[in-house]
Amino acid sequence: MPRYNRRMADRPHIFVTRTLPGGDGPGSPLARLREATDVDLWPEESPVPADVLRARIAACDGLLPMLTERIDGALLDAAPRLRAVANMAVGYDNIDVPACTARGVLVTNTPGVLTDATADIAFALLLAAARRLTEGERAVREGTWGPWNPNWLLGKPVAGTTLGIVGPGRIGAAVARRGGGFGMRVLYAGRHDVPDFPGERTDLDTLLAESDFVSMHVPLTAETTLMCNAAFFARMQPNAIFVNTTRGGVVDQGALLDALRAGTIGGAALDVTTPEPLPPTDPLLDAPNIVIAPHLGSATLETRTRMAHLAVDGLLAALGGGRPTHLVNPEALEAAQRPQSEASR
Ligand code: DGY
Repeated sequence: MPRYNRRMADRPHIFVTRTLPGGDGPGSPLARLREATDVDLWPEESPVPADVLRARIAACDGLLPMLTERIDGALLDAAPRLRAVANMAVGYDNIDVPACTARGVLVTNTPGVLTDATADIAFALLLAAARRLTEGERAVREGTWGPWNPNWLLGKPVAGTTLGIVGPGRIGAAVARRGGGFGMRVLYAGRHDVPDFPGERTDLDTLLAESDFVSMHVPLTAETTLMCNAAFFARMQPNAIFVNTTRGGVVDQGALLDALRAGTIGGAALDVTTPEPLPPTDPLLDAPNIVIAPHLGSATLETRTRMAHLAVDGLLAALGGGRPTHLVNPEALEAAQRPQSEASR
């Protein structure tokens, strides 16, 4: 019988892999969880080690992980009671969804609530790279800021240029809206036409050839892994700036480094890297015209608290036998809702 079809005799036992934003006062995400479940919480600031996670979820019904936890078949096999995994992230590339589905484990994510926060970071990075903001800030701190110089730290204009959005989902659309506000022409490339997208659809080749800024908004999947490779950068304009706020895994970082060093592209602005954290010795940090932020896309208290609430909603709905709003693998639910006789045919 699928795991989540079992009736709970006791309060569900939950493991939460980090202190949740929003505190633990009445109505907070953590308090809501504690009202309905027995919560075991990893209290450290750093991720729970894989062996500890494995041991702590052995008797759990539900798991609320961060994007730092890898949830795969081997881990699920160590947690035979587990019925729901509520990722506190919109991206769920850290979860082997087919392995969850095969075991009747529901997976939920947190879309929507981080759209504007992430689009703000994408645009902040775009502006910082275009206007050489981090170089300038470093000069101020290092005492190399000389008298006003008409030829110093000259950046790229933004207004009147072309912004290419690869992946026209919620966040891509929010970045496109910001581009429109800055007087940019917006192109997008994606598998489907998005009728109300604030930009013009084109194919990826045209987008890369015509954009002054290319901003990545595809989820990390088998298909998008390393899609930004040497051939991708070669198709961009030599002055263009590459922006990535989705997942480091979509980029071949060796190819990006080569493209920056060779001047194949004009600059890069990243909120995500492989690995995270990026070691301070990584050669990417010495590349010309690069700005790197430490995965700050959703990092506002309001956004993170809303993400935590959404993850709690998902977990409680799944454990309560309902259909979570942001269910990633409806097949797991549908298979379980089929009559037992049909399911075993
Ligand atoms: C997500 O939710 O996937 C984001 O990367 C978190 O910032």
